[in-house]
Amino acid sequence: MIRFLLNQELREEQSIDPNMTVLNYLRIHAGKTGTKEGCASGDCGACTVVIAEPDGNNLRYRSINSCLTFISALDGKQLITVEDLKDGNDLHPAQQAMVDCHGSQCGFCTPGFVMSMFALGKNNSHPSHEDIHEALAGNLCRCTGYRPIIDATEKMYEDNTQDHFDRSKEQTIARLRALQQEAQPEVNDGRKYAFNPRTVAELATLFSENSEARLVAGGTDLALEVTQFHREIDQLIYVGDIAEMKKIEVFEDRIELGSAASLTRCYDVLTDEYPDFGALLHRFASLQIRNQGTLGGNIGNASPIGDSPPALIALNAQVVLRHGDTSRTLLLEDYFIDYKVTAQQPGEFIEKVIVPRAEAGSEFRSYKVSKRIDDDISAVLGCFKLKISEGRVEDARIAFGGMAAIPKRASHCEAALKGAAWNKETIERAKAELAKDFTPLSDFRASKEYRSLAAANLLTRYFVELEATEVTTRVSDYV
Ligand code: FES
Ligand code: FES
Repeated sequence: MIRFLLNQELREEQSIDPNMTVLNYLRIHAGKTGTKEGCASGDCGACTVVIAEPDGNNLRYRSINSCLTFISALDGKQLITVEDLKDGNDLHPAQQAMVDCHGSQCGFCTPGFVMSMFALGKNNSHPSHEDIHEALAGNLCRCTGYRPIIDATEKMYEDNTQDHFDRSKEQTIARLRALQQEAQPEVNDGRKYAFNPRTVAELATLFSENSEARLVAGGTDLALEVTQFHREIDQLIYVGDIAEMKKIEVFEDRIELGSAASLTRCYDVLTDEYPDFGALLHRFASLQIRNQGTLGGNIGNASPIGDSPPALIALNAQVVLRHGDTSRTLLLEDYFIDYKVTAQQPGEFIEKVIVPRAEAGSEFRSYKVSKRIDDDISAVLGCFKLKISEGRVEDARIAFGGMAAIPKRASHCEAALKGAAWNKETIERAKAELAKDFTPLSDFRASKEYRSLAAANLLTRYFVELEATEVTTRVSDYV
């Protein structure tokens, strides 16, 4: 049984299809139709709801796409929908601001926008323009235009008033803590099952006994198999409630990121160490996806166009794979074998990701090329980490996404750089070597010629940036 608060109401669900998304649960089972379905694929934000969880003495609020979240992810949490924002007859400040600023026309996108605004307001009472842009970038409006909606988001903070969520905060935390102490939950419809282990050891046992099961953390990729391809998943193991796998620890020589830590949390930590990694994650899908998606999921789905792997490979990251009681550690670059094929064995799962701390004298940069700035998939992603000493290249690690069937190092290009003088001639020679490293494909995102040219030009850009006396704009800000 899973237990959660739907707004203020306790819900207990046992006999339910674990393939059900939160969006369908709300609209079909709970009769709450304020949350809309637009794309059912994480692109439009019409389905945005907010999850609240205890975080010390506070509640942490996350906007998520309900169309990509399976029902088992709700266990022990509060699910807040647009129906609960009003306080008696009074609109919530986010709703009132939308009225006052004329932020809605047909209204289809409005519940999603309001929920993103609400989550922003709960976590950040003085957001900057950039914070507002980031919070709303995963919501699309086809008719109002964004200016009035941004105005409304700025205006909702003017009075800085408490809402009914603040007034009931202690009570909500106590209710959620009580729910989280319940026994190991499971939901099933008699044919399909979802398990929620609470420790890595439980997961290891469960998965080695049920190696056909699909692991789900954020579910932002896996849920597409259900919503877009109408597949049925017979056994799901939800790993998002395993505290050990959500832990992030910073050591003297490394950062260890639990594979079920959300991309938003990883973003915060990695940005401190590698600012460009943060800039890259800022362009990684939408905030709703980053709040729900995990680093382990982005690696484990083995997509050739996942944004994290090329950056992590350039940083010489490792993955820790666990099977039963045993663990093994391997370089991330050795994890990817072929298109959607990895070194992971049946019953084995990614427990954590280890990223070395920044090294003095090395410069890491990442460049994402996509058609839109926000919420888009990379055509090419280039990541560079070079160490230059006394005018020569001491070390070079370069990895690309979108250029091969897997995220992959540019070994010929690296070899042309290592030991060579750091100048334009070396760069031109290294760019020519990229043709030996990659034979990209043409698809709707980019032609093979475009990809090859863009990849080579990213190396030029890296050189120009490092040579420039003053870098005023980061390339990660460009499409
Ligand atoms: Fe479009 Fe969920 S319905 S993001
Ligand atoms: Fe119509 Fe936004 S108000 S889509």
